[in-house]
Amino acid sequence: MLINNYLSKLDIKKILLENLKSITGSQAEQESQIMISYSSNSENNLDIKNSEVDQELINKILNERVKGKPLAKIINEKGFWKKIFYTDDYTLDPRADSEILVEQILIDCKKNKYQKQLKLLDLCCGTGCLGISIIDELDNAFCDFIDVSKHALTACKKNIIKFKQQQKTKIFHSNLFKNYPINRLKYIDFIVCNPPYIPTRNYLNLNKETLHDPRISLDGGKSGMDYYVKIINFLINVKFKGVVYFEIDPIINKNMYKLLLEKGVKIVYKKTDYLNLDRLIKIKFPTT
Ligand SMILES: C[S@@+](CC[C@H](N)C(=O)[O-])C[C@H]1O[C@@H](n2cnc3c(N)ncnc32)[C@H](O)[C@@H]1O
Repeated sequence: MLINNYLSKLDIKKILLENLKSITGSQAEQESQIMISYSSNSENNLDIKNSEVDQELINKILNERVKGKPLAKIINEKGFWKKIFYTDDYTLDPRADSEILVEQILIDCKKNKYQKQLKLLDLCCGTGCLGISIIDELDNAFCDFIDVSKHALTACKKNIIKFKQQQKTKIFHSNLFKNYPINRLKYIDFIVCNPPYIPTRNYLNLNKETLHDPRISLDGGKSGMDYYVKIINFLINVKFKGVVYFEIDPIINKNMYKLLLEKGVKIVYKKTDYLNLDRLIKIKFPTT
């Protein structure tokens, strides 16, 4: 037991910070807040009575956390954009890095003042955090979700229900576009996609915490490019008329730009993340 009964909330926080600092460094403050909030069913409010903290629960969480399990995998929750998403052992925990996609897509959609219905496809959807965050802010937007993992789609469905988006969504269990009705693509305005992109040799050297995410959500093949190549080739072949917003990563950027050049795919724009690294590209396909 790391925490004894009958401690004040501030004492609990001190113990959490002491234990978390060596594991999470600068994240210790944030994680301790999340743990307290989760264990007391409050919204990070430090004024609530001490008795409202479930000390058995917080002990259990801390015990698992100090053994190196990521907090999101312990409490099955991860904050992303404006919501708290369900996540589990079968899904990639949503990353703050990916919020740039939501931010930028919403800027584009609002700028274009879409009057008509907007249809998007969240390809490699995992928890569905990208598509759900986008349609949640656009009245007239509908989203298809594709993932090859049935477990990930179960998590996605939980989030769709949690955020009451059933009327605006449809889920497809598919290896990329294999089981996706090709006719639907004609009506898709844009695809948002954060595919697995870690080169296999880098995957094998990832830190232990990241390895709690399923390999299928991370390993992008020898050069990390396998998914981009397949998706881009497919969309060129079917003459996809919409745009694609891809999450990219500094480890694959060079190969990515080479591929786009070879295929004659136009980069509409690139955006950097909070660390000023290229993180998003918006692309368009050749029309002839
Ligand atoms: C990097 S995760 C992204 C999850 C989510 N979109 C996000 O941004 O947090 C990649 C996802 O691709 C899925 N995936 C892997 N191979 C796939 C395939 N062949 N077809 C469809 N989805 C696939 C994985 O199951 C995983 O959920």
